[in-house]
Amino acid sequence: MNERVNEPLLDIENLGVELPRHDRRGARRTVIQGVTLSVAPGEAVGVVGESGSGKSMTARAVLRLLPAGATVTGHIGFQGRSVLGLSRRELADYRSRRVSMIYQDPRAHTNPLRTIADFLTEGVVACGDMSRDEAAEAGCALLRDVGVSDPERRMTQYPHQLSGGLLQRMMIVMALLPSPDLVLADEPTTALDVTVQSEVMAILAEQIRERSLGLLFITHDLDLAAAVTDTLAVMYAGTIVEIGPAAAVYAGPAHPYTAALLASRPSPFSVKRIAAIPGRPIAAFEAGDGCVFAARCPYATDQCRTQRPLARPVAGRSVACHRAEDLESALRAMVS
Ligand SMILES: Nc1ncnc2c1ncn2[C@@H]1O[C@H](COP(=O)(O)OP(=O)(O)OP(=O)(O)O)[C@@H](O)[C@H]1O
Ligand SMILES: [Mg+2]
Repeated sequence: MNERVNEPLLDIENLGVELPRHDRRGARRTVIQGVTLSVAPGEAVGVVGESGSGKSMTARAVLRLLPAGATVTGHIGFQGRSVLGLSRRELADYRSRRVSMIYQDPRAHTNPLRTIADFLTEGVVACGDMSRDEAAEAGCALLRDVGVSDPERRMTQYPHQLSGGLLQRMMIVMALLPSPDLVLADEPTTALDVTVQSEVMAILAEQIRERSLGLLFITHDLDLAAAVTDTLAVMYAGTIVEIGPAAAVYAGPAHPYTAALLASRPSPFSVKRIAAIPGRPIAAFEAGDGCVFAARCPYATDQCRTQRPLARPVAGRSVACHRAEDLESALRAMVS
């Protein structure tokens, strides 16, 4: 029996990140607080939230690529080892072989003067894991897996000869080529149009499941995240306010912020007025002692404004809201 079968691939516990302030020497700002989430092999986890909620900072912490002077608290485990404790050598191996990153804008990450073959293979060749020919062959096989026809010809082309959707599939292939265990995708399809976005994400999710990799998919797009992930984490002000099975969170949010996000997106099926969330999103360091969402929450009480709710199990997920149980039907009504 394999005892490690249920062990998470990535295990983030109570992560906190503080950054130095440039305007006041010695002062620091909290940008991430109390983030707990895990990714199992074969699992796709979505992280959604408004701009500035800490999605990218969480991914950067996982790669230990935080801005200079950042302090990290809590635990980031990868295959049972502490990422924060990796030596330089181990860290280089972790970043080049174990974890792959897919970025938002493929054109910004390709060199217009180099062929697709160069672009796809240089990482694994530089690591010494494959020869150029082996890498080209593996790259062609992966291109076929992600639905690219005539991959040998594509390998000889230049980035400008490829559409945005095709180029993003190249990025997926480049991420999969070193046979990583975990893929981090930070807004990977934002530069694409909507139909191509869901097609590219469906391809990525399929590859993740087939290869039993973990995926951390960061996006603003709740609909897209719910469609392709198993687990959904909703972030606000540097913290996770709700996390649970994607379908359940999407169909019946248990945190007022999740409900507000769902109610505020335009629906192709109805012409109802979009209920914008009043106020502006805040950063972690702007939240007082109370609930991070209290200032914008229509259901906030005095307790919410003064006492930070801890994440606790509610309806099969983890929710940081004092009132989650009594708001169940009100939140359902907001999104139906
Ligand atoms: N290099 C940096 N130096 C200082 N603060 C930063 C830096 N990058 C981000 N921040 C701050 O950290 C917080 C979290 O930012 P982060 O980039 O993780 O948000 P995000 O959820 O990825 O947003 P977006 O959807 O816009 O990409 C924000 O308050 C942001 O202003
Ligand atoms: Mg971001």
